[in-house]
Amino acid sequence: MEQIIVRPSSGLRGEVPISGAKNSVLKLMAATLLAPGESVLHNVPAISDVGIMAELLRAMGADVTLTPGTARIVVPEVCGLEAPYELVERMRASIVVLGPLLGRFGRARVSLPGGDDLGPRPIDMHLSGLQRLGARFESEHGYIEARAEVLRGTEVLLEYPSVGATENLLMAAVLAKGRTVIENAAREPEIYDLCEMLAKMGASIVGAGTSTIEVEGVERLSPVTHSVVPDRIEAATYLAAVGVAGGELTLRGARAGHMEMLIEKLRAMGMTISDTGNGLWAMAPRTLHSVDVVTLPYPGVATDYKPFLVAMLSVADGVGIVTENIFQGGRFGYIDELRRMRADIRTQGHHAVVRGTTTLSGARVKARDIRAGAALVVAGLRAEGETAVTGVEHIDRGYDALVPKLAAVGADVTRVEG
Ligand code: EPU
Repeated sequence: MEQIIVRPSSGLRGEVPISGAKNSVLKLMAATLLAPGESVLHNVPAISDVGIMAELLRAMGADVTLTPGTARIVVPEVCGLEAPYELVERMRASIVVLGPLLGRFGRARVSLPGGDDLGPRPIDMHLSGLQRLGARFESEHGYIEARAEVLRGTEVLLEYPSVGATENLLMAAVLAKGRTVIENAAREPEIYDLCEMLAKMGASIVGAGTSTIEVEGVERLSPVTHSVVPDRIEAATYLAAVGVAGGELTLRGARAGHMEMLIEKLRAMGMTISDTGNGLWAMAPRTLHSVDVVTLPYPGVATDYKPFLVAMLSVADGVGIVTENIFQGGRFGYIDELRRMRADIRTQGHHAVVRGTTTLSGARVKARDIRAGAALVVAGLRAEGETAVTGVEHIDRGYDALVPKLAAVGADVTRVEG
């Protein structure tokens, strides 16, 4: 069993290259299904979820070649229409093939995703939105059977700006007949990236990045070459690392405009952060100040930043209250692990009260999801003795070279067997 061993590290210094965004590349790969022929994605991160999406596309008949930084995807005229349980179970984001398959073939058979460590995660908004476009669904033996004789554009008002529902709807609407208006659409930079790629493929989209997206359906899309947007959540991880360990870092490629609310919070905690034009430069004070944090859909503070902020608050001066509004059950699983490192955190419902202490205590802890795992590594930078993070496979799902990137800027981090 692999582990990441972290020892106290102070004064990180240097430059970290930020990879392409996990939460974009997976959807862009699914979007290639919309057009037969060879699409090429650049700035593709080396993460295991990309490998799973590649397997899924291969199961549908696509020819996928992954080389460092690039995915070449040749999509056939006729695709397999099933997303099997074995792959959806390993990666929930597989559900995002539903929209493109319905859009292009009017049929799909996709395994229902179960819950995960983030709690129950229904897909009711994906289905009701697609139903408004004319799709019908039956659920049998754990699979959704989707059919649509014709998809017709219409107005869809999302009850909540769900990232996944917006993406599935967009990818169905681009090949639907007529105009679809998605109201209360998600506004995340990854949605904007998807809209940009769809537009390059020939889709007609107005309002990308706003809460009203209008799509005029077209007959046919063409394959595309596109570069994946930088990963704001990966960038946030390194901002937290320098916040916890001290020092100064340049994050090459990070986009300040995609992380404004987080940057405001980190400045309030005492960090100095500036936009270098081609990235971010960040410097941490000797001691961080506590702040309160409330997670919200973009442009609010992302739920994915929260584990890093909790790790930072654990070693800050004062008390910070963190409120989770996106995932039911608070998405606080990793807090028990941080407590094992002597962090002083109490939770009640969707709130966590974090009382800062000067140093944590290294312990054996387990990563239960991608961001929680990275937050435990970050916390280990300020923990006496040794922190051994297990469950490394979760971290590998979403981080391209977390350990080498941290080690290159002076963190005492290694990856070991057993
Ligand atoms: N929701 C519903 N019904 C739906 C869809 C969503 O109730 O039909 C609820 C969810 O259960 C959740 C909330 O709405 O409580 C937000 O879900 P959303 O659909 O916005 O999220 P997602 O598309 O499932 C993506 C990211 C997550 C990130 C969330 C929120 C990907 C692959 N995943 O998930 O990222 O936390 O948006 O920003 O894009 C991660 O990267 O580790 C990760 C979990």
